[in-house]
Amino acid sequence: MAMFTSRIKGLDELAEKTFNPYSLVVIGGHPGAGKTTLAVSICADNMERGEKCLYISFQEDKDKLYSMMRNIGIDLEEYEDKGLFKYVRLPVTLKPSEVMQVINDLVVTEKPRMIVIDSVTPVLDSLLVEPKKRAMVQNYMYNLPKSINGVVILLAELPFGEENLRLGNIEFVADMLILLKYRLERGLLVREMEIKKARGSHLRLAKIPFAITSRGFRTFPAPTTQDIRVGGEGRYTLSFPVLRDYIGYVNKGETILVSCQPDARFLQSIYIVLDLVATNRLRGLFITYRYGAEEAKNLIKEALLALGVTGGEAEEFIRKYVEIRSINPSGTSMTELLAYETLMAEERKPDLVLFHGIDVFESIVDHKTYFSELLNELFTLKKMGIIVARYGNITSEEFYRRNASLSDIVVKGLFTDKCGGKTLGAPGMCFYLWRRGRKPIYVSEHEALAEDNLKALKMSIVKAIEDG
Ligand SMILES: Nc1ncnc2c1ncn2[C@@H]1O[C@H](COP(=O)(O)OP(=O)(O)OP(=O)(O)O)[C@@H](O)[C@H]1O
Ligand SMILES: [Mg+2]
Repeated sequence: MAMFTSRIKGLDELAEKTFNPYSLVVIGGHPGAGKTTLAVSICADNMERGEKCLYISFQEDKDKLYSMMRNIGIDLEEYEDKGLFKYVRLPVTLKPSEVMQVINDLVVTEKPRMIVIDSVTPVLDSLLVEPKKRAMVQNYMYNLPKSINGVVILLAELPFGEENLRLGNIEFVADMLILLKYRLERGLLVREMEIKKARGSHLRLAKIPFAITSRGFRTFPAPTTQDIRVGGEGRYTLSFPVLRDYIGYVNKGETILVSCQPDARFLQSIYIVLDLVATNRLRGLFITYRYGAEEAKNLIKEALLALGVTGGEAEEFIRKYVEIRSINPSGTSMTELLAYETLMAEERKPDLVLFHGIDVFESIVDHKTYFSELLNELFTLKKMGIIVARYGNITSEEFYRRNASLSDIVVKGLFTDKCGGKTLGAPGMCFYLWRRGRKPIYVSEHEALAEDNLKALKMSIVKAIEDG
């Protein structure tokens, strides 16, 4: 017998056992939380496999529903033409016995394998003072999956601030209970899916952030420990002598932290990333939290010019290898930011992502929220085999240390007159370099930016331009 799926991450692992024929699924949620979208998405996935979906609406207007779904990439008209989707609108004023009769007739004529009732709240609410009739309707819903040999999805409204769907026994007899909720984080909206119950499955992730985008309903489950592995094998080499000699190579999925003293930011600290991109012809995605995209581009250009490449070459290099995006992190919640960045990484498929200005998070997000969301993001990118380079000022020792402990390679720059015990001829930058598994070293700016070193990087850049 065909199983039902959802193709929705986080639900799917549970779906295997829970979405089997005869399942009663309840999707409850806040107004506008995404109940309709989720139910139709589940239908769409199974309609793709030839299963028919009957959608009974007390609420959603047909035109509105079709156009809303078209906006997220689901063409209900096409399914309808193929005989896989049937929309039926029922007036809220219908008596419960009439509702059951209509559904029974439709089951016979349409032979659906999935039924969505959007929503059951008005029908059940109309029976609040008639407990016997209410129990009868509940019992009817409970038996419906068996009579269609398929899945029944009941949508239910959850008023803000309440946990109870007021569905009586249905909540107890349902095989799966999903709540879609809104939460405010720094005054910004976060959507969360709570899986309250999934019969026959072991619940690992009970709370999953999700987003509704033009490509549909998408969840962002935190990677579980068995998920945490590097996507793909391979290592990238470096051309810049100091980096090549000490760091040697960078593996796919590794994290690099580059931190400078906030009042001694050093333009050339971008060289490690430019080197990786140029030497290995990587596709780089640069996300800046502090500058506009144009401003960031000018900074990269400046760093390239300092190597002795021409303005035209610098432009060409950026055009071929680097995509720059600017995000204002105080305009988004961490959850949404993570969702947005994950989607962008999936879409652009970069080999390396640079995050610039990570120190802003120290001021706007509490540490716990930040680091737990950050861990999820790093795991997700690692799984995709993407190198992550994180740039930020050392705004506090603690923030720096926490970030360093999540990194495989650290470059830390301070302005000083002593570097690794040696007194510098003139005050300058001193870099502390560390690679996992090695003893750290100190390199002064004078050593690092020696003529020959710059030449080697310039050559790599010029070659990348010619090749690209
Ligand atoms: N293309 C889109 N891109 C981003 N968000 C979208 C898109 N289409 C819809 N949404 C969002 O989806 C939400 C609507 O979801 P949906 O209608 O499924 O919720 P619902 O829980 O069924 O709502 P209601 O309680 O009104 O029935 C809206 O909040 C809207 O912001
Ligand atoms: Mg709805």
